[in-house]
Amino acid sequence: MSDADAIERDVLAAIARDGIADTASASARHGVDHQAVVGVVKRLTAANMVVARAIERSRTTLTAEGERCVDEGSPEARAFACVPEEGIELDAFRTRAGPGAADVGFKQAMQRNWLAMVKGATPRVERRVETIEDDVREALRALRGGETVDAKTLETLTKKRKLAKEERWKEYELTKGAEFALERKVLPADLTKEMMNEGSWRGQAFKAYNLVPGAGAQPASGHVHPLLKVRQAFREIFFSLGFSEMPTNNFVESGFWNFDTLIQPQQHPARDAHDTFFMKTPATMNFAPEDYVERVRKMHETGGNGSIGHQYAWKRAEADKNILRTHTTAVSARMLYDIAQTGFKPARMFSIDRVFRNEAVDRTHLAEFHQVEGVICDKDLTLGDLIGVLYQFFERLGMTQLRFKPAFNPYTEPSMEIFAFHPMLDKWVEVGNSGMFRPEMLEPMGLPEDVNVIAWGLSLERPTMIMYGIDNIRDLFGSKMQITSVKNNPICTI
Ligand code: PHE
Repeated sequence: MSDADAIERDVLAAIARDGIADTASASARHGVDHQAVVGVVKRLTAANMVVARAIERSRTTLTAEGERCVDEGSPEARAFACVPEEGIELDAFRTRAGPGAADVGFKQAMQRNWLAMVKGATPRVERRVETIEDDVREALRALRGGETVDAKTLETLTKKRKLAKEERWKEYELTKGAEFALERKVLPADLTKEMMNEGSWRGQAFKAYNLVPGAGAQPASGHVHPLLKVRQAFREIFFSLGFSEMPTNNFVESGFWNFDTLIQPQQHPARDAHDTFFMKTPATMNFAPEDYVERVRKMHETGGNGSIGHQYAWKRAEADKNILRTHTTAVSARMLYDIAQTGFKPARMFSIDRVFRNEAVDRTHLAEFHQVEGVICDKDLTLGDLIGVLYQFFERLGMTQLRFKPAFNPYTEPSMEIFAFHPMLDKWVEVGNSGMFRPEMLEPMGLPEDVNVIAWGLSLERPTMIMYGIDNIRDLFGSKMQITSVKNNPICTI
């Protein structure tokens, strides 16, 4: 039986016998610290087995210096004793009195007019009274003997002179509680398979859950996830290039903004359930600006302004489907539409946020990841402007050599994959995708004809993995990531 259990039984037996018990005598009986009994009382009161009434206690004890005063006299009395009737030279007094009496004692004795210093070529110390009464010593002796002294003296001795100290604590008087018993039943905390099988859970009392949040231990510091560190570095690069951040706080998008506004045909493979997550509830939404929806429909079906469109019957139902956005270009589309509506002004915008793809997860792919996207909207932009800004951007990431490869995106023409010579990897790697948004996308928005939009995108995970030397994306993001790796990862230096 542990100490605590023995104390517990003893306290319960005492209450049963005498109707009352108290923590001070229990601690004395068991020869344990009072606090150990208080711990036992806490669990008994929590189980409603006893009622505890607190009794405030206090005690004054002497400090080591206080003990010395009782044994040898107060510092001022000792100082006084070092001064003979005819007085003494200050230096001799100091040597004779020694530490304590020579400093604190001398000061106190002068304050009380027991001693005085006579200045001159050789300063002297002289008595001012014939005898003294060492009241400090008497008061301390009284305290040590368990007697009381007046409040003012007590304050001087404890707070000012630190010769004594006051301790306060609570003792408890214990009586029977509603659930009083001679033994505390340890109630099960969990419902087990056996209880279910045997049916014994019926009528079984369980330990009550404490749903009041306790104050947890304060962590010494927080740690920033590597993706957030790299994201911040990217944000600062964009800000340094005069870009403003797009609002990306809607993970759920309609097919309309994610695909249709980008003139991505409705039968495009990216739009089926193998690539895109579709929402079940609510499965659809249909608040897009109707006149714009109509222009988009026309562009898909028959085109306009020199384009023949995709030549198929566009379905509103497909556009209304709720999905988890598959790229942040959905946000760029919303922003460009807003710019067209509020009257065109040149804009440089970026976003860094989460996107979702219904993909098989492997060491380089996750079903959710982050995209970094930059968009510039201005009059008469060319592919040269795009190449120029990509050099500016990647140079700030430490990549000065770039190569471009023609590519295809449903919404950009021309489109380029971006390759960079990576100094850390010492080889050419694909670092992003880019292009000029097609007029078929910009015209239905209502942007002036001479306005072009250049844009590029990359994932946040890939540069982070390269920078932190992580080769499995699951070690970076998701449920398998080790918290310790967040704690230990170094700062991001782009
Ligand atoms: N949206 C593209 C993707 O998901 C990236 C991109 C952005 C391409 C902008 C061209 C222009 O990969």
